[in-house]
Amino acid sequence: MKIVVILPTYNERDTIIALLDGLHVSSKQIKHHSITYLVVDDTSPDGTKDVVLKYQKKHSDVKIISGKKEGLGKALLRGISYALDTLHADIIHQMDADLSHDPEMFPEFIKAIDHGYTFVVGTRYISGGSIPENWGIHRKIFSVIGNSIVRFGLGYPKIHDWTGGFRAYTKYFAEKLRKTMEEYKGYVFQIAFLHKSVELGAKIYEVPIHFTDRKYGKSKIAPSQYIRDVLVYVVKARIEALLHGSFGKFLIVGGTGFIINAIILKILHDVFYWNATYANLVGAAFAIFSNYNLNNIWTFKAQKISSLSIYFSKLLQFYLTSAFGVILIQTGTIFLGVKIFGDSFYFLFFLIGTAILLVWNYIIYSKVIWKKNVS
Ligand code: GDD
Ligand code: MN
Repeated sequence: MKIVVILPTYNERDTIIALLDGLHVSSKQIKHHSITYLVVDDTSPDGTKDVVLKYQKKHSDVKIISGKKEGLGKALLRGISYALDTLHADIIHQMDADLSHDPEMFPEFIKAIDHGYTFVVGTRYISGGSIPENWGIHRKIFSVIGNSIVRFGLGYPKIHDWTGGFRAYTKYFAEKLRKTMEEYKGYVFQIAFLHKSVELGAKIYEVPIHFTDRKYGKSKIAPSQYIRDVLVYVVKARIEALLHGSFGKFLIVGGTGFIINAIILKILHDVFYWNATYANLVGAAFAIFSNYNLNNIWTFKAQKISSLSIYFSKLLQFYLTSAFGVILIQTGTIFLGVKIFGDSFYFLFFLIGTAILLVWNYIIYSKVIWKKNVS
């Protein structure tokens, strides 16, 4: 198969040749594949291109493309497009060109692809991997916390390194994602590309890597912009995931029920001086009716109840299970809260009780009322 190694460079004239030499040595272990090294230079003012052009005279497997500097993500994407369209890559390997990524590790990535994995991630945060010893404590903490936010924020705890750029993947992900990736111009590209590949069903393998601090030149990362891009990406992805799954719809339906419940509770308590406990029961009765119908036609529409008799028997079941939740869990929380902390805290305990109620309801709805028929 055809492997294309994408090496993005911006002012890496001091390291690119040593890296290419290192790759030529380590790649001797890679059999049954042909390899092209693709330097994606953004017209580096330090003359990276010149040293590569000179090197090319003796190494016909090295290619270089130049463009204008629009960020690492853009450069990677340009490399991916060239690898697919012009070089007809089957496997794409990418790594930093400043020697932070050890060229000796290259065959390990390809070995995993040969074993059937479709996306191989160089990982600093598993045993056998590391971040530089000489990084200051702030930088270390920043790196570890940043990665954890992405890892847990996106909900894939089994993948440990989201931000790094030492990877190999089959052309499938490059082909599928090249359009969508256009909006991730900077370093956030790495996170978005891995995340979207995982969602496309990538079979992930993690290779532990040591990340060495660069000895020449300087990093092009702009920390504040990067932090913003990462947080925006994670929050957006989370919201999208929620809205697509049934839990998101359940929350929206529950939210409208909550508003109905809260308005009735407030009016009865604040305007008509009802006892908060009774006021909540009436509010909840209306909210439950609204929730039942919205969940039936939207959240669980795949299991929609359409026969009238089942509609009413399920409505009854819905009221009973909801009543249990509302009486014991939600109203019970208000009752206890008001008893212990006083009437002025009634609304706080309404909120706490509702949060617990939510979890109870989702379980009952999806496991009992709109249970999937497994036949
Ligand atoms: N062509 C091109 N255009 N190359 C770029 C650009 C650009 O705009 N910006 C960076 N690069 C190249 C660099 O020349 C280097 O080869 C590689 O991309 C990584 O850039 P560095 O500037 O060395 O980044 P870093 O070491 O601070 O960032 C590391 O950590 C990030 C977050 O974990 C790298 O491993 C990144 O890949 C990683 O995303
Ligand atoms: Mn670097």
